[in-house]
Amino acid sequence: MDRIRIVGGNKLNGTIPISGAKNAALPLMIAALLTDETLILDNVPRLADVAQLQRILGNHGVDIMAAGKRPGDHEYQGQTLHISAANIIDTTAPYDLVSKMRASFWVIAPLIARMKEARVSLPGGCAIGTRPVDLLIMALEKLGADIVIDGGYVVAKAPKGLTGAEIEFPKVTVSGTHVALMAATLADGTTVITNAACEPEIVDVADCLNKMGAKISGAGTTRIVIEGVKKLGAARHTVLPDRIETGTYAMAVAMTGGDVQLAGARPELLQSALDVLTEAGTTITPNNEGIRVTRNGAGINPVKVATAPFPGFPTDLQAQLMALMACAKGASHITETIFENRFMHVQELARFGARISLDGETAIIDGIPKLKGAPVMATDLRASVSLVIAALAAEGETMVNRIYHLDRGFERLEEKLSACGATIERISG
Ligand code: EPZ
Repeated sequence: MDRIRIVGGNKLNGTIPISGAKNAALPLMIAALLTDETLILDNVPRLADVAQLQRILGNHGVDIMAAGKRPGDHEYQGQTLHISAANIIDTTAPYDLVSKMRASFWVIAPLIARMKEARVSLPGGCAIGTRPVDLLIMALEKLGADIVIDGGYVVAKAPKGLTGAEIEFPKVTVSGTHVALMAATLADGTTVITNAACEPEIVDVADCLNKMGAKISGAGTTRIVIEGVKKLGAARHTVLPDRIETGTYAMAVAMTGGDVQLAGARPELLQSALDVLTEAGTTITPNNEGIRVTRNGAGINPVKVATAPFPGFPTDLQAQLMALMACAKGASHITETIFENRFMHVQELARFGARISLDGETAIIDGIPKLKGAPVMATDLRASVSLVIAALAAEGETMVNRIYHLDRGFERLEEKLSACGATIERISG
């Protein structure tokens, strides 16, 4: 199993290109199931989760062609996928595929909408909490799907097709909003989603669906209106930049000090996180090419932050912020409000000497001047990268084990960081 070796202490200086957003690319690829015409997606990141979803879609009979680089393409540009679901040969998503990646459960929405049936394995728990799918099922039932759970599978049927409905989510859910949005595009009549998630990835998917011929308004607000259409068609869409990757590298620079341009980043996608970094003592300068992050000299100020749905501070940056606050000049408080068990990184950060105590949903971090490198183990995607951030500033060597989590969500992490002066290498085997 691959490992990453990091020797900490170097400042980061240079340019880091930001990749396409994983959490937009995945639902966009799934949306291709809604049409028998080709969906072309540009700027798709090269990630293990994308490759896994390609396998899952392939199982339904979807053809995916990854186009090679064209003359003039930047070496860092993401891949272009031509996705054609002209013939769906199987409406079952089996356990062994869905269990490897939760988002693959979302295929249930286009399958029931277009094929009028779907049989999708329940995704099960994961390292960050129980993560149920009850609200996704509720949304599909509102749209008229008949749903039973049978042998660990969600079996959905709508022989006469789906019908527009009012869907009110009792809590903000990104997955629920994606599923309701995709399913409603082909429903008969109008659907109104209230208390919808406002995440930028929802807006990106809605934009793409509209290019395919859907009639969606209000994406990015808490009320989304979808007028169902009979059929969706071909489209071409560019995946938006990854705000979590952007925030992660910004925190790495805040941690080590230095001066880095995050090329292609869009500040409005993560304003709350940038505000927290400014409060912590980092200088954030949006410019035409992205965002410049600098921190020179002065130490890191402690902060008090609670995660929240967009536009609040993202749960997917909580672990990285905790790594940063481990070296702050005082005590920080970080409260996790989205997932009930997303503190798996606490015990691993402690291996670096970090002083963190938990009080229910809140972590109290007593900053210390210097972390010390250690062997650590990654538990989930964002927790893994928090260990990398800690290691970049720690004294001495860190070995991060079980890095397959990192490959799920960070494209060419070692390359991007070493180009800015970090001592980081992948050790195979
Ligand atoms: C998405 O997960 C992201 N995944 C997550 O990123 C992210 O942490 C999360 O949104 C919150 O921003 C993708 O986009 C692929 P939710 P999702 O539905 O959609 C509860 C990463 O590292 N809930 O908004 O699954 C749920 O348990 C990942 O890239 C129900 O109770 O999140 C949670 O407490 C990790 N019932 C809350 O809602 C349901 O039916 C928010 O979950 C659905 C969700």
